[in-house]
Amino acid sequence: GLLSRGESMTPGAPVPALQEKPRLLIAFGSQSGNAESLAKRLGKEASSRGFAARVAGLDSVQPSTLTAEQNVLVITSTWGEGDMPDNAESFWSGINQNGSSPTLGGLKYSVLALGDKNYGDTFCLAGRKLDERFAELGATRIHPRVDCDVDFDEPAKLWSEGVWKVLNESPATTTTAPAPAIAEVSIAAPAAEATGVAAYSKKNPFPAPLVTNLKLNGANSAKDTRHIAFSLEGSGLVYETGDALGVIPQNCPEVVAGIIATYELDPAALVPLPDGGEAPLQEALQKYYEVRNFLGRKPPQAVSAAEFVGSLRKLQPRLYSIASSQKAHPNEVHLCVGSVRYEQDGIAHGGVCSTFLADRLPLGEPTGVFVHTAKHFRVPANPDMPMIMVGPGTGIAPFRAFLEEREATGAKGKNWLFFGDQKRKHDFLYDEQIHQWLKDGHLTRLDTAFSRDQAEKVYVQDRMMQAASELWQWLEEGAHFYVCGDASRMAKDVDAALHMLIQQQGHKSADEATAYVADLKKTKRYARDVY
Ligand code: 2AM
Repeated sequence: GLLSRGESMTPGAPVPALQEKPRLLIAFGSQSGNAESLAKRLGKEASSRGFAARVAGLDSVQPSTLTAEQNVLVITSTWGEGDMPDNAESFWSGINQNGSSPTLGGLKYSVLALGDKNYGDTFCLAGRKLDERFAELGATRIHPRVDCDVDFDEPAKLWSEGVWKVLNESPATTTTAPAPAIAEVSIAAPAAEATGVAAYSKKNPFPAPLVTNLKLNGANSAKDTRHIAFSLEGSGLVYETGDALGVIPQNCPEVVAGIIATYELDPAALVPLPDGGEAPLQEALQKYYEVRNFLGRKPPQAVSAAEFVGSLRKLQPRLYSIASSQKAHPNEVHLCVGSVRYEQDGIAHGGVCSTFLADRLPLGEPTGVFVHTAKHFRVPANPDMPMIMVGPGTGIAPFRAFLEEREATGAKGKNWLFFGDQKRKHDFLYDEQIHQWLKDGHLTRLDTAFSRDQAEKVYVQDRMMQAASELWQWLEEGAHFYVCGDASRMAKDVDAALHMLIQQQGHKSADEATAYVADLKKTKRYARDVY
């Protein structure tokens, strides 16, 4: 057994545990994949620290079996208006059942919450709720929850270091194996790096030249949506349809100049950069710090340039759903980007990255990009399965990619697209390509909802209800149902329509329809990429 294995080990190697390894469940609630990749990374660390670690999506964790666990680490993001990620919903309702919620006495846990401070009150709400509920059910919080803003790497690392420290000190979980030094948190390289495919990552973005910047809307449209293409030549970057592309933007030089003038700062003053080093204030504000929140603010007390940047957040990459299949475009990656432009208190505002791509990055010039993997959003593994795609506005992006992918692979499954936007004449994004697919039969069915072509608003969910019986038939044939686009209104209304049509067409009660949808999610046949 264990002893003989120990005896055969080379001197100096760690002594194996004499007692059973402590169990550790690392459970994640993930919408875009960040929580999932953090959980997997933590799982590797846990194994190397002598735990019997298991990493699982919250959708595969049965609340009733939690009591059998010793230690649980929960990593979850929040999306929409403080909502649980799709794969955490059933778990959340399972631990909130009147009378039948599990008692978690004896369980040790800690929560890492991912979020975005721009969302104010709902910042990290899913993680906060899970943390509180575990405590209410009697579990012992062994380390305080950490709420991460968008730049989550550092706080996540601090949290995991704190957790390892507690777990290694706690008598119930000690093993005779030596505890590795706390400071040496080894972070496993992503799979792509391990196989030598791509050395470029979020930490080391690839400088990708902009090769296409094409306005997709007509001249009289209220919108400005761009087809953006970057060259990936020589990068070795590999993406799957459904992934997102991280793009490193720069702030608008006029905005930066305005801020420097307003605060009466010296543009040439050297200031510290978020990740070390220093640069002149003008460059630091353009490339390294978030400045949009300062627009139009009243000047505070006079501060030095260094103090000023000390109050700013690090400039974040922006994620866009990839709009191309690499099988169709081996050396390129395409995005469909809505330019964000609006006026507030007489001041023109623009989205940092969308206007950078539309207005400021010259053709042929590079900017940093990296692939953000989103495993939950993929074409069906079975090429014969039907797909139903609901993607109004820029929500079309991943579905253009899905359709290109299925065309390139010759997948035989039926494809149904719901698209919508303001006006057919000006806002039918990728209409030529879509109509070509419709003509050659690759796209089995297209339903469009142009909201401003008639007096009454017509939305994609209305088209779903009009096609309820066919849609139900496709679902019963095993279709995968995908939604991409606006999270706060569209995705919620589409979800409600989906429940309604299942109830109506499947002759089900509201609860039965909810169970049907929960099963679609569990079997990965209902996936959302919403923002
Ligand atoms: P509207 O702005 O004319 O109301 C893409 O932006 C499309 O999404 C637009 O046609 C927009 O319509 C529409 N849209 C707005 N709210 C929506 C909702 N709740 N459900 C579905 N589509 C919506």
